[in-house]
Amino acid sequence: MKHLLGIKGLTTEEIIEILDRAERMKHEVLEGGKKDNLLSGKSVITLFYENSTRTRLSFELASKYLGATAANITASGSSVEKGETLEDTGKTIDEMGADAVIVRHASSGAPHMLSNYTNASVINAGDGMNEHPTQALLDFMTMREKYGSFEGLKVSIIGDVKHSRVARSNIYGLTKLGAEVVLCAPTTLMPAEIERLNVEVTTDADYAAHNADVIMGLRIQLERQKSGLFPSVREYHKLFGIDSRRLSLAKKDAIVMHPGPVNRGVELSADVADGPQSVIGGQVTNGVCVRMAVLDMLAGGNK
Ligand code: CP
Repeated sequence: MKHLLGIKGLTTEEIIEILDRAERMKHEVLEGGKKDNLLSGKSVITLFYENSTRTRLSFELASKYLGATAANITASGSSVEKGETLEDTGKTIDEMGADAVIVRHASSGAPHMLSNYTNASVINAGDGMNEHPTQALLDFMTMREKYGSFEGLKVSIIGDVKHSRVARSNIYGLTKLGAEVVLCAPTTLMPAEIERLNVEVTTDADYAAHNADVIMGLRIQLERQKSGLFPSVREYHKLFGIDSRRLSLAKKDAIVMHPGPVNRGVELSADVADGPQSVIGGQVTNGVCVRMAVLDMLAGGNK
């Protein structure tokens, strides 16, 4: 593996290898306090054309925990604002000798394009509505910690599936790993023909929640509400929000996940987001572990 551009192109064995490595990172580096030098002498650059808290920070921390030199560029404040192309930005980074570039971009396919312009390993940190592979990997790690395996798990993903790169990466991976995936959204927020990806589709959130092992809420992009994709936020919460009544339809020990940032009272009620079945905090921690594993695999000595 030279790049990590999506989950779609990974084999099941590659996914499991990343998860195993992430688990080792968790025990040895995060919990064991053993900061490692696997990336000593390596340079990692985060290139973010869209806002981020979790992904960018966890990549920076992961790089530093493994001994790399980490630097970041954001669109605002960089020469992108002066009209520099992705190609020229890639070449410029290359001239500085980066070993890995982590890119988030509003356009689907931008990381793939960047990988043609640089010798560094390119890691997709979210491209448009396409994929967010490291988010899905941290989601898989969190599910595996709870259940041990994926075979037969019912994972219900509820929310704005249409605009969600998180949903796409989860679908590609979970179906490979043997989970049963149920997607639930208003029809205006469900992509056409998504059933072809081996998932079940419903507009009934109670049905989606019933007997689920995992309920994953997706962020409603409130900025898109101006275009009238659903009648009102209050109505959305009633029909698709995960509150304690809807959660009670799931298996007794089901977990609640969300990639963040959460709109409390919209995708999740506050008591569910902060309740005992929520693993949202664990997802954030696992994000650092997965990103250490991916950086080690792509830029470390253990490719
Ligand atoms: N889940 C996720 O991608 O969060 P950020 O936008 O904060 O990175």
